[in-house]
Amino acid sequence: MNKLELDTPALIIDLDALERNIRKMAEFFEPLQAKLRPHAKTHKSPIIAKKQIDAGAIGITCAKLGEAEVMVSNGINDVLIANQIVGKRKIERLVNLAKKAKITVAVDSFENVDEISKFSSKEGVSIGVLIEVNVGMNRCGVEHGLPALKLANHILRKNGVEFKGLMGYEGHAVMVENFQERRSIVERAMKLLMSTKDLLENEGIKVEVVSAGGTGTYNITGKYQGVTEVQAGSYIFMDTAYKRIIKEFENSLTVLASVISRPKEDRLIVDVGLKAMPKEEQRGIMPEPKLEGLKIYALAEEHGYVKVSKQVRDIKVGDKIEFIVAHCCTTVNLHDCYHVIKDDKLLETWKIEARGKFT
Ligand SMILES: Cc1ncc(COP(=O)(O)O)c(C=O)c1O
Repeated sequence: MNKLELDTPALIIDLDALERNIRKMAEFFEPLQAKLRPHAKTHKSPIIAKKQIDAGAIGITCAKLGEAEVMVSNGINDVLIANQIVGKRKIERLVNLAKKAKITVAVDSFENVDEISKFSSKEGVSIGVLIEVNVGMNRCGVEHGLPALKLANHILRKNGVEFKGLMGYEGHAVMVENFQERRSIVERAMKLLMSTKDLLENEGIKVEVVSAGGTGTYNITGKYQGVTEVQAGSYIFMDTAYKRIIKEFENSLTVLASVISRPKEDRLIVDVGLKAMPKEEQRGIMPEPKLEGLKIYALAEEHGYVKVSKQVRDIKVGDKIEFIVAHCCTTVNLHDCYHVIKDDKLLETWKIEARGKFT
């Protein structure tokens, strides 16, 4: 089947572009000390995670316990959950998961460490933990230096938790357009992380892992002395937001839409709205291939409003238009499967196994 015969809305992967992106990132990390631990929150697919690991990734990163459960049950055996897992029910699930695979989790509070330790030691399981350090994003994380040292000492006194190292996500840098500016923000962030590492090591605490980075910073963070792994995720698909900043990876993800109405010369309506393609802040959605004169200017639940300028006025009801999405991760989470396309033909479909697994 040709991709234009697919029913819409359809989430599409260009397989060749996806594989080129995977290869390019793997080649970047090959000679480096830091290794790639790609973030699976982007694709939520064990099939893609396995491709990344086959290309050299040391394991994967997940945002949510539910994602990690899907990955482990599909054969991925080394997972970092780069988030705090809080609450009795979740920690029971975390401990169960750690019986099946190597699980590492981020922590940033004494209470959370105590709660994990209580359940894991009872079950005779040891869970690796990374202390999340706030490196300037001001989301989660203890402050650098002494607060991290105090938490590390606390972890070392507890059973069922094994101190592995530090995590510091420099998310405030990943979308900074100017490269020099981005680099100096990343360097400031990594200095906080490395000074914390030095402090701990001077106290005799081994810091085996330093985990950081995203698609916008992989080529700065990945080369920063002392970083051992990078959590880039979006590079496999890209989107309009990241494409402004990172040119070397290709757009491999699109949403195919049908024109369902052509109420006026300068307006057409497609069958893709917010339920299939979220719009975020100022991030645009782009027709692909670049069709000059078509611009999505609004999204409702099921409708996309497209402004049409002169050049493409021959587009009719029933025609198909492919869009590069504003944000790949949130778009993927809305779909059941990927339509995998090679040379414009449908090769196979891949279920998005961890779609909606946000607990
Ligand atoms: C903890 C963490 N690591 C890494 C990333 C990087 O992901 P991406 O490469 O998609 O920017 C994110 C993105 O939100 C994140 O929250």
